[in-house]
Amino acid sequence: MIIIGCTKSRGLAKSIAKKLKVSYFALDVKHFPDGEFYLRYPFPVKGRHVVLVQTLHEPHLSLLELVFAAHTAKDLGAKKVTLVIPYLAYMRQDKRFRQGECLSSKIVGRLFKVADELITIDPHLHRYKRLNEAFKMKTKKLTANSLLANYIKKHFKKDLIVGPDIESYQWAEGIAKLIGRSAVMLRKRRYTSRKVRVKFKKGVIVRGKNVVLVDDIISTGHTMIEVVKQIKKMKPKAIYCLCVHGVFAENAHEKLKKAGAKKVISTNTIPHKTNRVDVSGLIVNALK
Ligand code: R5P
Repeated sequence: MIIIGCTKSRGLAKSIAKKLKVSYFALDVKHFPDGEFYLRYPFPVKGRHVVLVQTLHEPHLSLLELVFAAHTAKDLGAKKVTLVIPYLAYMRQDKRFRQGECLSSKIVGRLFKVADELITIDPHLHRYKRLNEAFKMKTKKLTANSLLANYIKKHFKKDLIVGPDIESYQWAEGIAKLIGRSAVMLRKRRYTSRKVRVKFKKGVIVRGKNVVLVDDIISTGHTMIEVVKQIKKMKPKAIYCLCVHGVFAENAHEKLKKAGAKKVISTNTIPHKTNRVDVSGLIVNALK
């Protein structure tokens, strides 16, 4: 087995290889002046199990790079190609919400048909029940819930776990259960990518508590910002925002802090300064 770091996940790939005590190589990736990719394996892959590690943050380039890398590994005679995609983009587009829309998640699945196996962390499975509905290969769906639960247990006291919408129950409720606490789930209505409204339940006591908001993804941050604004009026001790995948589009991190979040915490499925929870161990166990 060789672990290969694609451009978006070199740090994570290195630490996976180190923990597994197997070789690590960086994929050679450049761009021609017109923007086209140049990609090369500067080491032999024939007959080997090639593990490509690439998160799909800023998905246009990262996705295409990984598609080219997977196809090239097979062309060069790799025995097996495993994709380790810590953050699997496009999974929220799992339905045609309006007639004529592109079903992006299924197309992404087809682009990777050449690979033998997919390992990912907390994919946004909502309308799909299983990853295989989009990815026709062996799949392993890992979850960072226990890691986030340990973080909460270690760092917060007198806390209340809040999920900003019903889709976040897998994370907010899942994590609360692991540490024997209860979670409050809110209702969200999304009007556009940047406009959401969240309804807070009556009778929930927030005053004096550390409120820990938990979701799988913070993208534009508008979901969490809405909740932070509402909770702030209810006099909590402090508000913390936790997520698996910190996409932080359009300065979402700064906006969240400005709205009143005391601290924002993410896992390292996407490299960011808020990374406090390391997922490399989860991936290592899945690869063993
Ligand atoms: C969707 O249901 C997800 O669980 C997140 O709530 C959503 O992706 C967050 O997006 P944003 O940060 O753009 O509001």
